[in-house]
Amino acid sequence: MEENKNIESLLQRDEQSSKNIDSLLQGDEQGSKDIESLLQGDELSSKDIESLLQDVERDCKAIETLHQSSVKKVKDMSTLLQVDDLNISFALQQGKLCAVNGISYYVRKGEVMGLVGESGSGKSVSSLAVLSLLRPPAVVSSGSVTFEGRDILKLKKKELLSLRGNEISMIFQNPASCLDPVFTIGRQMIEAVRAHNKHYSKSHAKELSINMLREVMIRDPERVMKQYSFELSGGMCQRILIAMALLSDPKLLIADEPTTALDVTTQSQIVQILKKMQQQRKMAIVYITHNLGIVAELCDRVSIMCGGYILEQGSTEDLFYRAEHPYTKMLHKTIPRMDSPQKEPFLTIEGTPLNPLDPPDGCVFHPRCPHCMDICRREFPPKTILSLGHSACCWLLSPHGSNPVSINGGVSYSG
Ligand SMILES: Nc1ncnc2c1ncn2[C@@H]1O[C@H](COP(=O)(O)OP(=O)(O)OP(=O)(O)O)[C@@H](O)[C@H]1O
Ligand code: SF4
Ligand SMILES: [Mg+2]
Repeated sequence: MEENKNIESLLQRDEQSSKNIDSLLQGDEQGSKDIESLLQGDELSSKDIESLLQDVERDCKAIETLHQSSVKKVKDMSTLLQVDDLNISFALQQGKLCAVNGISYYVRKGEVMGLVGESGSGKSVSSLAVLSLLRPPAVVSSGSVTFEGRDILKLKKKELLSLRGNEISMIFQNPASCLDPVFTIGRQMIEAVRAHNKHYSKSHAKELSINMLREVMIRDPERVMKQYSFELSGGMCQRILIAMALLSDPKLLIADEPTTALDVTTQSQIVQILKKMQQQRKMAIVYITHNLGIVAELCDRVSIMCGGYILEQGSTEDLFYRAEHPYTKMLHKTIPRMDSPQKEPFLTIEGTPLNPLDPPDGCVFHPRCPHCMDICRREFPPKTILSLGHSACCWLLSPHGSNPVSINGGVSYSG
């Protein structure tokens, strides 16, 4: 009995719902009639609509311009280092060697930019130019290096000396040759502190040096201050160089392959120290390396270099998950594992590495590229913007190429 009543009430509710649906449909019918009549009205005033659309388009353009100028303003405010169209060559007896070909990149305050590429790709030479440290036969033939609005390549000697070490520090590629074996570590550190802060007493400089050694995880820094570089391991020397580079609390640190000569455990410790120091001090770093594993660990953005050109640039995520350039994709295959038993290997890509005195025409990577097309042998590819902050120079990606395709989508090309 109870069950029957429930069924009856359910049926009544169903009937009510059907009525509601009916009335809704009738409403819809009315709505359609309204829309139809509106459309007829629209047809009559199509000229008005056209002019309205033009107004909207104009407004959109104005908003876009405003947006672009605000993006530029924000970028200008946060950019610390800007390298623009930098060209560097060596005037050698055998001929002109073009080491850096029109590279451009920027580093924002507090970010880590990785400069990655095979041996001889121009990483060190371009970074030495940032500190205006190149000497003949090197020639900066064109381009600019701007640090906080100042063109470094045009600074006077005195201004450069104050910039180096105070605002920009560099850890050079070969740690052993950077420490003088004739003087104790303490003497070299104290001198480094007082070179930039002449009014500091020796005891204050010593105290600062000891504290800094402690920050880079050197045990018993008082004892290390009395030692000579030849008494210390490669990892210890590298930590001391990091400590010396950071003594002046620079805004930018250029670290040129600071872990290459070290075993993987020490490499990993050094990377962790740099990461900690960078985060604590909100310091920007240009980190030069062959090792994409370290890039993943440390860098916010990456520029991939080959034969003096930057072939792809983007955020670390772009370069790892959305790499488009064939060279970057081949570099991925060379990623050394942190738990690999050997020392860090150099990036090696199959094929003959390029001869810098006789570079190929067109795309610098064409002799080794599996996707090479005719146009690649003739012309260097223009830069294609792939997404905000992500770009690459490859004819496969260029809308001006003979057959643009997305190679990320797995489309292979034989041309
Ligand atoms: N003093 C020099 N005289 C002549 N050529 C040079 C000199 N220094 C560098 N080069 C050339 O400039 C090019 C770029 O060299 P660079 O040292 O910048 O390469 P790199 O990318 O730092 O390589 P690595 O990873 O081996 O350190 C290379 O072809 C190199 O042979
Ligand atoms: S431009 Fe051509 S040769 Fe160069 S990377 Fe792209 S496909 Fe390869
Ligand atoms: Mg180098």
